[in-house]
Amino acid sequence: MKILVINGPNLNMLGIREPQIYGSETYKELCDLINNYADKKGITVEIFQSNHEGVLVDKIQDAYKNFDGIVINPAAYTHTSVALLDALKSVGICAVEVHISDVSKREDFRQISYVREYCMDTVTGLGFNGYLKAIDILLENKNDSNS
Ligand code: DQA
Repeated sequence: MKILVINGPNLNMLGIREPQIYGSETYKELCDLINNYADKKGITVEIFQSNHEGVLVDKIQDAYKNFDGIVINPAAYTHTSVALLDALKSVGICAVEVHISDVSKREDFRQISYVREYCMDTVTGLGFNGYLKAIDILLENKNDSNS
């Protein structure tokens, strides 16, 4: 199983940005957590971050036929980007949406998620562990479709 983890704008600033919302652990610590979990589960992950919408679209397109699942935290583009939704629909790869914070308890403008229409599930408010839960959801889905 090969999973692509995609992170949108400002997630590279974890540990610095709004620690009262996103915690004090850094982006590198998030990557280490995900990579260690992937090793434990015996799967391959690639982690990618960009602050640019088009670069994220390119990365999703490049995943076509190269990855079995996508974990995506589109960050602010969650609430604005039809392009990311269309990119996910274009490649047809199973995807799970993740948010570190509980977006349902935040501002009105964060209540819209464009990618949610495509994603098989959404994990919010679990901090960094949400990424691990999203990987588990993709693995469970794969096992279900094999049986
Ligand atoms: C976020 C929530 C978004 O509303 C915000 O723009 C982010 C991070 C989260 O992980 O909680 O940048 O996706």
